[in-house]
Amino acid sequence: MTGPITTELHDDVLVIISNNPPVNALGAAVRQGLEAGIKEGLANDAVKAMVIRCDGRTFFAGADITEFGRPMQEPGLPTVVDMIEMADKPVVAAIHGTALGGGCEVTLGCHYRIAVPSAKIGTPEVKLGLLPGAGGTQRIPRIAGVKVALELTAKGDPMSAKMALGAGLIDRVAGEDSLVADAIAFARDIAAARPLPRAREKTAKADPEAVAAFKKDNAKRFRGFDAPAANIACVEKAADGSSFEEGIAFERAEFMKLMMGVQSAAQRHIFFAERQAAKIDGIDPKIALRPIKKVGVIGAGTMGGGISMNFLSAGIPVTIVEMAQDALDRGTGTIRKNYEASASKGRIKPEQAEAAMGALTATLDFAALADCDLVIEAVYENMDVKKEIFGKLDAICKPGAILASNTSYLDVNAIAAATNRPGDVLGMHFFSPANVMKLLEVVRGEKTSDDVLATVMALAKTIKKVAVVAGVCDGFIGNRMLKPRQIEAMKLLMEGATPEQIDRVHVAFGMPMGPFQMSDLAGVDIGWHRDPTRIESIRDALAAEGRWGQKTQKGFYDYDEKRNPTPSPRVAEIIEDFRAKSNMQKREISDEEIIEKTLYTMVNEGALILEEKMAQRASDIDVVWIYGYGWPIYRGGPMFWADSEGLKKIVAGLEKHGFAVSELLKSKAESNGRFN
Ligand code: 3HC
Repeated sequence: MTGPITTELHDDVLVIISNNPPVNALGAAVRQGLEAGIKEGLANDAVKAMVIRCDGRTFFAGADITEFGRPMQEPGLPTVVDMIEMADKPVVAAIHGTALGGGCEVTLGCHYRIAVPSAKIGTPEVKLGLLPGAGGTQRIPRIAGVKVALELTAKGDPMSAKMALGAGLIDRVAGEDSLVADAIAFARDIAAARPLPRAREKTAKADPEAVAAFKKDNAKRFRGFDAPAANIACVEKAADGSSFEEGIAFERAEFMKLMMGVQSAAQRHIFFAERQAAKIDGIDPKIALRPIKKVGVIGAGTMGGGISMNFLSAGIPVTIVEMAQDALDRGTGTIRKNYEASASKGRIKPEQAEAAMGALTATLDFAALADCDLVIEAVYENMDVKKEIFGKLDAICKPGAILASNTSYLDVNAIAAATNRPGDVLGMHFFSPANVMKLLEVVRGEKTSDDVLATVMALAKTIKKVAVVAGVCDGFIGNRMLKPRQIEAMKLLMEGATPEQIDRVHVAFGMPMGPFQMSDLAGVDIGWHRDPTRIESIRDALAAEGRWGQKTQKGFYDYDEKRNPTPSPRVAEIIEDFRAKSNMQKREISDEEIIEKTLYTMVNEGALILEEKMAQRASDIDVVWIYGYGWPIYRGGPMFWADSEGLKKIVAGLEKHGFAVSELLKSKAESNGRFN
């Protein structure tokens, strides 16, 4: 046999082996090979049982997503899984790494399953806007019951081998280093057992209460998504007395609906966009990286503390420096509290919390940063202060140390110029809360060395961030695009929209909150000049009255003690007042106009960012908005969304309101092009 599948005969057991790096995706050649392998085992009288296993780092991690949207080559995965299940010799799946999606479904077609303790099993298709479409929604409930099936399919989180054993999804746990031998021994143990256990022949018991509770518990998580409901419907079908064949037909129809829809296309786009973002154009992927064994953080405030936790959690020691003892104590106290809270919620083990705290050194002494491999400055946004700090770092830090600023909009080139080593300087823009938010904008200065950039991009993966390279411009990628949205939202208030209306439109679009809810959460006083007599904008007026947002229980909304918002009559008055002073007439604003003015302008800014080469690619912009600002993943990020709306429509909307349209956006629209 040629191709990714080979076979090995171990006396009476035929082992079918896949070798399709990097993740043994079930592409056409693998499916063909599996079919041929099973046929070989059935045809050879000496073979009493078969084992399917994978070489490399993992068992089949799923269908080959790159094949989606193209004509499917035979045999399809459902056919292969059926063939395995219908074989009249026992087939054992030997699982290591991750048996995901179609990979999990292959194991469900097998009569028996054995896994190493570190293996993970799951059906994450829902995260790609899909459902397990090779019989998974029908076999999981039949093997493990409705509750487990709902968790696995509609939420998509994988389970450990131990949990899978408890749920009946695997039959045995192998030794971590003896999977092949243990699987062959298992195959011999059950070689003669009949009848063969086939998932399709089992029945699942309906559990309407569990379904109702599951829907209720996850309503927030599923809001706006099509795929979870389709997964749930398929699981219900498996338990409603329908035949297996009827269930499969239902699953297929639901799968195809999702596959053809824009949500799955968006979610698949983001899957690849996230991986693409890690790649730096023009830099050799094999470039030697600088070792990062110790990190320094300047500033123990909310940002500095959150940034430190990323490294501590990854086992990298951190030295945190502050100016005053009370600020330092407060900062380290918050870090400790966060770890203790995670431990008490069972998210980490108490010893992990202790280990993380043990790796933290807190000091007032700048000189303690001398042996750090990377120092991240996280003090307040003031260029003079930053320049002074970088001058000091230049004098103290060892040669080769990387010096990073967490600035969210200041000129990284000017900061780098305060040192004699601008090649070692870049921006690392974390998003608040920095220990939670997945996005990291890595800002490449004019003089940043290739190896410095590559080192930080690789480090981002170690600390579980999704990193995107940005150029030096005001606000980089994310905040730069936020700006037109904020400006337009404020203008719309003046023209007659209310904060509630604008926020409602954004939430209905799928954003976690609208621009005014976001202002109230972040603080209306952010960036305020702090002179209550100088009232030049609606924001100034709010700030001057102490309407600083949730923290003062009033901002664009009024809040009760539980932080529930209600529209504020006082804010309406302030807006009215401004409108009168500017001689503006209130008019009806449509939801459509809000979308055009606040979202189309973001797309336009994104196009300018691309024109100016401040982002490497449109998909990077999408990644920034998904992981930094909660853009609904089922809309694929602003640039993908613009593509799916049609760029001509976006340009027409912008022109209708008199906006200057980016040349790139215009030319793409004219040629019926796309960003992605
Ligand atoms: N198809 C095609 N390519 C895949 C793939 C897949 N299912 N899974 C991963 N890859 C590619 C990645 O794009 C990446 O390519 P690159 O190196 O060119 O960027 C490479 O394999 C390595 O992937 P990761 O960087 O993600 O490697 P990790 O080790 O970090 O993670 C993993 C491994 C956990 C398996 C992760 O890749 C993953 O979650 N993969 C997707 C799993 C999934 O969603 N499976 C369901 C597919 S849909 C399906 O099966 C439908 C069926 O029901 C009919």
